[in-house]
Amino acid sequence: MAHITDLHVQRPPRLIDLVTGPKRLIGALNLYLLGRRAHFSAAVQQALVQTVEDLRPDVVVCTGDLTAIATDDEFEAARTLLRPLLDRQPFVLLAGNHDTYVREAHPGANMRRWFGPWMGPRGARLQRLGEAAFLTVETCRAHLTSRGHTPPGELEQAATLLDTLGMRGRTPEEEGLFVFWCQHYPLRGRSGAPYGPATRCLADAPQVEAVLAARPEISAVLHGHEHHGFRSALPGSRGPIPILNPGASGYAHLPDRRRTAHFCVYDVQGGQLRGVERYAWDGGQFRPEAGGAFATGG
Ligand SMILES: [Fe+2]
Ligand SMILES: [Fe+2]
Repeated sequence: MAHITDLHVQRPPRLIDLVTGPKRLIGALNLYLLGRRAHFSAAVQQALVQTVEDLRPDVVVCTGDLTAIATDDEFEAARTLLRPLLDRQPFVLLAGNHDTYVREAHPGANMRRWFGPWMGPRGARLQRLGEAAFLTVETCRAHLTSRGHTPPGELEQAATLLDTLGMRGRTPEEEGLFVFWCQHYPLRGRSGAPYGPATRCLADAPQVEAVLAARPEISAVLHGHEHHGFRSALPGSRGPIPILNPGASGYAHLPDRRRTAHFCVYDVQGGQLRGVERYAWDGGQFRPEAGGAFATGG
């Protein structure tokens, strides 16, 4: 399976887009006046889709931030870009904070107009796909300082969904099932300490971690948001739970700033994570990272 995240597809906003909230106006100024737009590359995003398609994964997971400022033009461009993958195999998708930039009926409501079939209805969602299951949890909302929070009842719903797996104390190896917890925000930073700063973090990360610690069904956590990828871990009832973030998959190639695009490939068999490979864009193509996944850092 392949894990992509933080593509940040961009389209210049229309005037009407800029009057729908201060967050989007600030975001657009950052992109188009302060140069953040050049941090991401449409050509690399196109190559990403082609490379993942060529790898023929069983499942593709995207942990949010498909867009930059969540306009309809950006969602449409993202859907066009991803169409070969959306149509090819199961595609597990959740919203990032950049996809929920303006107030809406509930987080991700507008994104679901474009990606509803791949996101499912509002709330936590559990999908069993072959030897892996994916529990997606909403952590984003419109917030001026990008501070995330799970919606009320979301964690209880996630626990109820895990009950439906009926594992009843059997290990993932015995069950032949590997369960990924998928969300946009990190829980831990690259040092293993709780992720900060307070303005860009998940405010109720301790409550999420309490669920993870109490549920032996969960074997790994996938996330995005932090654009320099890293691997960390959480203490779990069966030992450390790996946490995996490939880093932004839509980044431009800016080696002098130690920035380039990444995605991950996970080999799951018999209830175990047998292998992690991380691909990096070298300026001409995506290649497996030299020295093994996350060996180069950033
Ligand atoms: Fe992002
Ligand atoms: Fe984000």
